[in-house]
Amino acid sequence: MSSSLTPDPSSISPSSHARKPGLFIVLEGIDGTGKSTQARRLGDWFASRGRDVVLSYEPTDGPWGRKLRESAATGRLSPEEELQYFLNDRRQHVEQKIAPALAAGKVVILDRYYFSTMAYQGARGFDPAEIRRINEAFAPVPDLLLILDLDVNTAHQRIGHRGDSTNEFEKRESLERCREIFLSLKDEPFARVIDSNGPLDDVTAQIQAIVEIACPAS
Ligand code: TYD
Repeated sequence: MSSSLTPDPSSISPSSHARKPGLFIVLEGIDGTGKSTQARRLGDWFASRGRDVVLSYEPTDGPWGRKLRESAATGRLSPEEELQYFLNDRRQHVEQKIAPALAAGKVVILDRYYFSTMAYQGARGFDPAEIRRINEAFAPVPDLLLILDLDVNTAHQRIGHRGDSTNEFEKRESLERCREIFLSLKDEPFARVIDSNGPLDDVTAQIQAIVEIACPAS
């Protein structure tokens, strides 16, 4: 019978049409830009379109991420240790969560990723290009990087800092450098800069418009 000789396309490659490919979106920016809120909203938006969403963040709640958070309270790690802990944390995150979710066709949305290591550990003296190279040896490059951009003064006010002590001044200097490093990524084909000065809903609208264009199959 000819029908039994005609290959059923679904038996050749069930995964190629049975589900949409995974989609990997990362939100980055200095503290106060509203990344976490926008990441949640973007996750809800994809879920409302019937996509399976994995929303995650770095540092994670895994052992290395916990050590990093503890160190913020108990005294800072050396810059070398700190960088190593972020890399260890990310390696586990990629292996245990990010790669499996993408392989299963899910939408993975991250609040911070290796661009934060470039920016923050870059501001502590490491070479951002070298940090990028080390990360991209094991961490997948996202389909879309949303850089939420805001000037440091406004970001600082939003998170409740007055910025009038020496310590605050140093922090600001370092955040200026982080912002510069984030913005240095703006010409990457997968990156988009989002002006985050406006109200949350405006930022959400900008992000949705970009995602509709950059990820048309979403
Ligand atoms: P985050 O969890 O976003 O801040 P919060 O605790 O306010 O929710 O991130 C914690 C800090 O870690 C933040 O200041 C940025 C920093 N960080 C790095 O220095 N390097 C990295 O690679 C990452 C992912 C975060």
